[in-house]
Amino acid sequence: MKNGTDFKLRADLRRLIFTAFGGSLRARGFFFGNKAVRRPAGERRDIARCRAKVGVRLLTKDEISTRLRAASAADIENLRRNAYETMRAHVGEKVYYRGIVELSNLCVRNCEYCGIRLGNDAVTRYSLEPDEIVQAALWCAAQGYGSTVLQSGERSDAPFVDMITSVILEIKEQSRSKKLPEGLGITLSLGEQPLEVYEQWRAAGAHRYLLRIETSNRELFEKIHPAEQTFENRLSALADLRRAGFQVGTGVMIGLPWQTVEMLADDVLFFKSRDVDMVGMGPFIPHEDTPFSRACLGDAILPDEKRFQLALNMIAVTRLVCPDINIASTTALQAMVQNGREQGLLYGANVTMPNLTPSSVRKNYRLYDGKPCLDETKSECRTCLERRVRSVGRAVGFDEWGDAPHARKRSESLEAK
Ligand code: 5AD
Ligand code: FES
Repeated sequence: MKNGTDFKLRADLRRLIFTAFGGSLRARGFFFGNKAVRRPAGERRDIARCRAKVGVRLLTKDEISTRLRAASAADIENLRRNAYETMRAHVGEKVYYRGIVELSNLCVRNCEYCGIRLGNDAVTRYSLEPDEIVQAALWCAAQGYGSTVLQSGERSDAPFVDMITSVILEIKEQSRSKKLPEGLGITLSLGEQPLEVYEQWRAAGAHRYLLRIETSNRELFEKIHPAEQTFENRLSALADLRRAGFQVGTGVMIGLPWQTVEMLADDVLFFKSRDVDMVGMGPFIPHEDTPFSRACLGDAILPDEKRFQLALNMIAVTRLVCPDINIASTTALQAMVQNGREQGLLYGANVTMPNLTPSSVRKNYRLYDGKPCLDETKSECRTCLERRVRSVGRAVGFDEWGDAPHARKRSESLEAK
């Protein structure tokens, strides 16, 4: 098996060398059939751009699927090691924190899988006061976390939109310091909104937005959402986020009912084709008060160990295909396995999200069963997470926003145009 894998790696390397050298020589017009023909400069630039793109995405859909299926100890370790080395080469080994504030569990949507869906009457609903959100974010800045994520159930009513705007302005204003001259980095995870709302929040100072596609397969998307939540709307929301000037993150759940490895391979290609800056994904975990409870799904989902390993393999393959983006090691991994988040970091993730939600309401923001850290305070989460990060030989990037190199490169190339 090892020889087979080595061979595959050598073949990948050959293809890389071909693309890097043969490709670029051709793009410059040195070879054309047997004759050297010089192409016009504009055309040469276009070709070079295409070649460069192909050069970065070395893996075909079949190759991605094969890697996602890695199941023997040797294949898994090989995949993990490649992903880790790719991470080291492109984004480094630092882990960036995003202190997450789950600011409200009110939600107007009804995703079949989600514990805070509108139709779940068993949830005690809450919304933090604007000042509680600001204070949590300022605590995060004082700890040196560098960035915060503001997440909630979905709402688009004017009072909510305006409250978020003023919270962003307040956090930016109050978190400026010598260490953070631009203030705390703010990532939003507040669902689908009209373009004007995205623009308003971007203008207020948030600069990243996470909106998971959940699955890039239209049919599967339709099976896990009610009819009014359409795949088209999700796609256009992702496009609007880019238009509004955000660094864009997306992601999927892994191990959904009806989901195949080929669909997951398409998800990875979707991340690549949408040129995303960040990916956050984790295993699907049934919630008992949803239509997708364990009791309802029965054996329609993979056993826990397989779903967990598939989630790790997805992180690794995403790192191989999108080497310079930020990838989060999510709490859902830790919900399945005690050291799940550490394992995510070992498979190529470079971001993690300490929980800043006040302990009094944490248990009410339960998207899936078994969510960890429900009784811990934010200080306890800080100590615990730092120990976890250190245990895998990594250091935290304190007092930095920790933007993905991918985002930086895109903004530099836009400025150059
Ligand atoms: N299992 C795993 N992840 C879930 N999410 C929501 N419900 C579940 C679940 N049951 C994820 C979705 C959503 C994110 C905020 O949480 O991917 O986008
Ligand atoms: Fe709230 Fe899906 S249930 S966004």
